[in-house]
Amino acid sequence: MGNGKGAVAHVGVNVVDPAFWSGKRVLLTGHTGFKGAWMALWLQSLGADVVGFSLGAQSQPSLYELARVGEGLQDLTGDVRDHEAVVAAVRSAAPEIVIHMAAQALVRRSFSAPRETYETNVMGTVNVLDAVRLVGGVSAVVNVTSDKCYENREWEWGYRENEPVGGYDPYSSSKGCAELVTAAYTRSFFSDPDGTRVSSARAGNVIGGGDWGEDRLVPDLMRAAITGTPARVRNPNSIRPWQHVLNPVSGYLVLAQSLAQSAEYVGAWNFGPPESDARSAGWLVERVAELWPGELAWTHDDGPHPHEARYLKLDSSKARGRLGWRPPVDLDAALRATVAWYAALGQGAGGSVTPTGSPAAAPGGNGRGSATDVRALTVAQIESLQHAPSPS
Ligand SMILES: NC(=O)c1ccc[n+]([C@@H]2O[C@H](COP(=O)([O-])OP(=O)(O)OC[C@H]3O[C@@H](n4cnc5c(N)ncnc54)[C@H](O)[C@@H]3O)[C@@H](O)[C@H]2O)c1
Repeated sequence: MGNGKGAVAHVGVNVVDPAFWSGKRVLLTGHTGFKGAWMALWLQSLGADVVGFSLGAQSQPSLYELARVGEGLQDLTGDVRDHEAVVAAVRSAAPEIVIHMAAQALVRRSFSAPRETYETNVMGTVNVLDAVRLVGGVSAVVNVTSDKCYENREWEWGYRENEPVGGYDPYSSSKGCAELVTAAYTRSFFSDPDGTRVSSARAGNVIGGGDWGEDRLVPDLMRAAITGTPARVRNPNSIRPWQHVLNPVSGYLVLAQSLAQSAEYVGAWNFGPPESDARSAGWLVERVAELWPGELAWTHDDGPHPHEARYLKLDSSKARGRLGWRPPVDLDAALRATVAWYAALGQGAGGSVTPTGSPAAAPGGNGRGSATDVRALTVAQIESLQHAPSPS
């Protein structure tokens, strides 16, 4: 495996290191999703040899398709619920690093499809870890779960990695279960410090260009902005810890690098934003409306909604202290970049594709412009934002 294993390190590799990733064989599940597409593009720009394993893109349009993410990787279409398919993917990819992101990732959908959510998020994790166990040769596994994996005590203090997992709704509970699976597999099959090293990574709500997820605030706002209809905002007073998608993605990369260096990084890690980036949904809507280069009206949608847990704050002291990780993008830079991404897409749409997927020309667009190079736009944001000054 030749990754400098055995070296004792007290602070992990705190920046994303192109020398580490160049030529590295990486198996990424969930590469057709929102976070997965950003991760895949970043890995490609670092020179990694990426194999993606997922179902197809989950939205129309999708960042994966618009940014032609599949051009720079080996794309395996498959279902993480299918143990044989996952084993075959690990065998053919022969990865040094595995990053597991594939999931049914929507809380609301978990109420209408609870079995699918558990099957994907729990048995999918079992199947990925089991395939790694059976095939062997993997240096490090990063399993992406969520801040929602914690038992939400509805308190104001930050949750630390040694706090109990739980979850009120099927999605959150499935992520708590995925944590338990990861801990059991680590203890039972991956305890050799010179063998495969496994960690789980817990991060919260992310924002960024290219998200078309249902029932997510920023995609809802961008859809409304482009169609010129008022956005319906469910809980304007809810405080949420917003962060740019590149923040946790940088954490996953730094964690994988650190795991490859030393077994002392095995375990669970929180990757959350600083407290100053926890803001109400209403504040975020107002700020996005200021930044959007056109009209963006919104109304309060006070209809009945499924239970939404109160703000769950992550304490990321461990990642800061032990990995030396800092979130590279603060909230204002995150919002500017996100709005700029959708606005650029709208302007270049030329009537062929808009951020809503509808043929209508977007505000600010001239309806004749040449198509935006979404891949170049996204890679340029990765290049500039990873070096953004870090909030203290
Ligand atoms: N987006 C967020 O705000 C957020 C917050 C916390 C944690 N997460 C976690 O990060 C990861 C990525 O989230 P995302 O926002 O990119 O989600 P997404 O819905 O955009 O993408 C999900 C990905 O998983 C794949 N997938 C779904 N079911 C599958 C199956 N049965 N077999 C194979 N692939 C399957 C999809 O094809 C897609 O590639 C997930 O594990 C999610 O739970 C996301």
